[in-house]
Amino acid sequence: MTTPFTAMFRYFADDEFRGSSPAYFTLADALANDPAPAEPLLAAPPTQRRALLLFAAVQFLLRGAARGHPLAAYYPTLGGRRAPDAGLLAAFRDLTGEFGAELAELCATRRTQTNEVRRAAVLRPAFALAAAGRPVTLVELGTSAGLLLLTDRYGYRYRYGNGREVRAGRSDGLVLDCTVSGDGWSEPAAADLTVADRVGLDLAPIRPGDTAGADWLRSCIWPEHTARVERLDAALAEVAARPPRFVRGDMVEALPDVLAAVPADTVPLVFSYAAVTYLTDEARVRLVETLARVGARRELAVVLTEAAYAGVRLFDRETSVGERGGPAYAHWRTGAPTVLHLGHGTPHGDELSWSPTPVRWRPVGDASGRPARSPAGDRAAGPA
Ligand SMILES: C[S@@+](CC[C@H](N)C(=O)[O-])C[C@H]1O[C@@H](n2cnc3c(N)ncnc32)[C@H](O)[C@@H]1O
Repeated sequence: MTTPFTAMFRYFADDEFRGSSPAYFTLADALANDPAPAEPLLAAPPTQRRALLLFAAVQFLLRGAARGHPLAAYYPTLGGRRAPDAGLLAAFRDLTGEFGAELAELCATRRTQTNEVRRAAVLRPAFALAAAGRPVTLVELGTSAGLLLLTDRYGYRYRYGNGREVRAGRSDGLVLDCTVSGDGWSEPAAADLTVADRVGLDLAPIRPGDTAGADWLRSCIWPEHTARVERLDAALAEVAARPPRFVRGDMVEALPDVLAAVPADTVPLVFSYAAVTYLTDEARVRLVETLARVGARRELAVVLTEAAYAGVRLFDRETSVGERGGPAYAHWRTGAPTVLHLGHGTPHGDELSWSPTPVRWRPVGDASGRPARSPAGDRAAGPA
């Protein structure tokens, strides 16, 4: 096993899992010293050889082929109650030894995937702003299982630092908590939101009834984060009850046809959360060109909740606003769009700082012809 594996597990142990997942911290810490049980990761493409992929693959087996294995006792998300001890690494070694081929297959074919429903709490006020009381057709770029397309179907509890609370959306069913700060908050979340239609674009959508897909989403959640699994399951049930339309394919390629089919009596509202970041610089330029072309012909609202290079700087390549990332908002009514950087949402949507700030319409690939490059530091700053 090579040194990069050692460094990679050390990074995940110290910078990602410490303080957030005792089980994964213990495993990554041990694998940094002896990465041999991580050998199945070598089947993954080089850029995917990360602790998260191996650990998700192991959890996936614990939900299926390795159900009942003693390792599950350390996973609260699987009903386990044991705190990490010497038996954790022994059980992990046992499972990776017995299921090495299955793990290699999963590492070769799967990608870690997050569909975090709490992100809807960050999107909800942006959607209300775009809709202004009119029906919208939601079009999500990189929708995964489509959970964010049901943003109008959840309840919200927005809490301020001073203890004040604003409720929005449904009062029955799944309620999402979000802490709000920022001087521009004028309770936009409480506004009505009517969704006429919902369409999700993804290279690999997870449709209702895809039990392996749903299990993979659950398996990508860290073992102690039981509330996230509960939220995921509640949201998956909501999607199953009201399935959006899914379009399998590249978001940039598929978008023009999807927008052309949106009826004239609804406002198309294109949005993304942690998805445009996966495109190449050139594809991001083509995305903005498509949006501008459609916006020149009809009303169009767009909310990109991304790192700055994949969000606000697509609309204003010169801006220094929004260095911490989205949501960035552009709304075409007539002529050039109104563009705002709305604030900052945490990667999992538990916090929203709302301070809408106007920026200019100086899109990437426009006058300068230069796409917004994606500096490595920026990648860490946005939602993932
Ligand atoms: C990190 S997930 C985010 C899912 C969801 N937006 C959320 O916030 O919970 C990114 C999604 O983008 C999809 N994706 C990545 N590149 C894509 C592309 N070129 N076209 C369509 N979907 C893409 C992935 O398959 C994945 O489901």
